[in-house]
Amino acid sequence: MTLELCVVSSTEMTPAQHDAVVALCSEVFKLDYAFYMNLDLVRVHVLGYVGERLVAHALWLERRLRIGDGPWRRAAYVEGVAVHADCRGRGIGSAVLRRLQAEVGGYDLAALSPSDAGWYERLGWERWRGPLRIVKDGVAQATPDDEVVVYRTPRTGGLDLDAALTGEWRPFELW
Ligand SMILES: CC(C)(COP(=O)(O)OP(=O)(O)OC[C@H]1O[C@@H](n2cnc3c(N)ncnc32)[C@H](O)[C@@H]1OP(=O)(O)O)[C@@H](O)C(=O)NCCC(=O)NCCS
Repeated sequence: MTLELCVVSSTEMTPAQHDAVVALCSEVFKLDYAFYMNLDLVRVHVLGYVGERLVAHALWLERRLRIGDGPWRRAAYVEGVAVHADCRGRGIGSAVLRRLQAEVGGYDLAALSPSDAGWYERLGWERWRGPLRIVKDGVAQATPDDEVVVYRTPRTGGLDLDAALTGEWRPFELW
């Protein structure tokens, strides 16, 4: 089984790629992923194919994040990490994430909200220990029930994982 990876912007995806991502992620996440794919956002997708079949996916989009009282930083915010159920446990998800990690070196950092942080820690991600906040209309609200892991890029520099991490509000999953 040979895995082939490709990276494509949502602005350049073919209809077949789009439909395959919707089908895979809808099945894996048990929801209608078309809603998310049709939001007016620029995303970059990492697609993992075995032959003609899309078996794995991850994406990032640009998001501004603020650490403590520091400046807003340009983050690659990762979502939709999915491997088809019958292809798991063979290193495919790790290969997709490693490719994504190699692609986001131009950002100040990468971040995501994990369902299983331990899986990402194996790949070099670190748990955010400080409080998480979402700011809307200038007002910051704590989001204590969420969890975030971050990945350092060459641009990250020093990172205080105990500081507050603030993201901007958005009209779907906040983290
Ligand atoms: C999470 C997911 C993408 C992983 O994909 P995958 O292709 O099965 O992952 P890999 O085969 O690359 O990784 C499996 C390895 O992770 C290890 N692992 C799994 N969970 C772990 C954990 N919590 N801590 C440490 N290691 C873990 C396994 O032991 C295995 O290691 P090995 O290769 O040394 O045996 C896949 O299970 C999936 O699609 N799940 C449903 C959707 C989902 O939860 N997405 C993440 C949303 S944040």
